[in-house]
Formats: sequence, structure tokens, C-alpha cells
Amino acid sequence: MKFFIDTANLDQIKEAYDLGILDGVTTNPSLMAKEGITGEANIIAHYKAICDIVDDNVSAEVIATTFNEMIAEGEMLAALNPKIVVKVPMIKDGIKAIRYFSSKGIRTNCTLIFSAGQAILAAKAGASYISPFLGRLDDISTDGLKLIEEIRLIFDNYAYPTEILAASIRGPLHIIACAKLGADVITAPLPAITALLKHPLTDSGLATFLADHARASGL
Ligand code: G3P
Repeated sequence: MKFFIDTANLDQIKEAYDLGILDGVTTNPSLMAKEGITGEANIIAHYKAICDIVDDNVSAEVIATTFNEMIAEGEMLAALNPKIVVKVPMIKDGIKAIRYFSSKGIRTNCTLIFSAGQAILAAKAGASYISPFLGRLDDISTDGLKLIEEIRLIFDNYAYPTEILAASIRGPLHIIACAKLGADVITAPLPAITALLKHPLTDSGLATFLADHARASGL
């Protein structure tokens, strides 16, 4: 399973990359705004800065919502760096745009997926990734993990090459559940990823090992 970090914060991206387990980055307009990145020139510079940190898979979301504008914006974003994956919303013109980008060899991530039907359409259009938002489904008392399971079954039935990128992850248990269900990728905030490191028995076990070593060494 690939690990992406869901943030536009450069320090957090560096920290996750330095762990040696990071396969990519997902951003969205809200995450960019949260970092205070506004204006086209700053946004473009920020995408370039992210691409300088990681090896591949930097999702850059189009703001446009009509086919022609999405094509123009997506081609501009894709030309910034070969690591860019153009993130396109799950709307009718978005599906057309994904088909177009696919025919041009430009990778896409279809975002705001909340149903299996939407996932099928995006896969048929040739999306490289689809992003089901499981946390936001959980927020409205709908089982987000069930959607991941459903999409996995459907994609396996037809051997769709589109990768399931589980998004809107809220904590480490979501990550483990996605791994059990066969999600190809998770994208999560840094605290959810680093929470996987922690176990109280690891901490107490290490403290005991070090204390025993010090005692045996006469330290
Ligand atoms: O990047 C898209 C997705 O991960 C957003 O997550 O926490 O805003 O629901 P969240």
C-alpha cells in the first residue's frame, strides 16, 4: 500500500519523506488556503516546492469546473513537473476531462468520490487514482470503509487499473482498515501516519532494554 500525505505544509511533507515511507502528496484548495498559499503564481511555486521534496505523485487540484478550463488548467499543472497528478472533481465535465487527460498520458486523481457508481465512471474514464472520502462519509453516519470494500470488489471484478486512494482519513485505525480492505493508497495527515509508530509496550520495553544494558555495563 502506498502512503501519501494529505497536506500542503512543506515541513510536514519533509518530515514524512524523511521517514522513508512517503510515496506522494495530496493537496486540495482548502489545504493550500490553510497554509496561506493564494494567487496563481504562489500556488504554482508551492507545487514546485512540493515536487522538489518528494519522488513522485503530487496531486494538484484544478479550480476550474468546465471542460475547456479544466483542460487548460490541468495541462498547465501537468507541465510544471512530471511528478504532478492532476486532481479533477467528480462532476460531468470532470469525467470528460479525465478521459481527455488519459488519452494524453496525463495522470489524474478523481476527487470527491462518495459512491461506487462515481468510482466506476472515473475508472472507465481512465483515472489513475480515485479518491473516496471515507472520513466525510463517517461524519454523516455512513460507513466510509464499506465504500472502500465495495470499490475494491468492483475494480477487481473488471481488473480496472485505476488505484483506490483512500482519502479523508482521520486516524491510524482508518489506515489499518484500508490496508485490510486492499486500498492501493492511503492519504492521511501526518499525525495519523506517525500514530502508527506508537505502542506503550514498545516504549516501556525499550526503556527496560536500555536500563538492563546500563546496569549490566555498570553504567
Ligand atoms: O484531500 C482530500 C481529503 O483527504 C480531505 O480530507 O479531512 O478534509 O475530509 P478531510
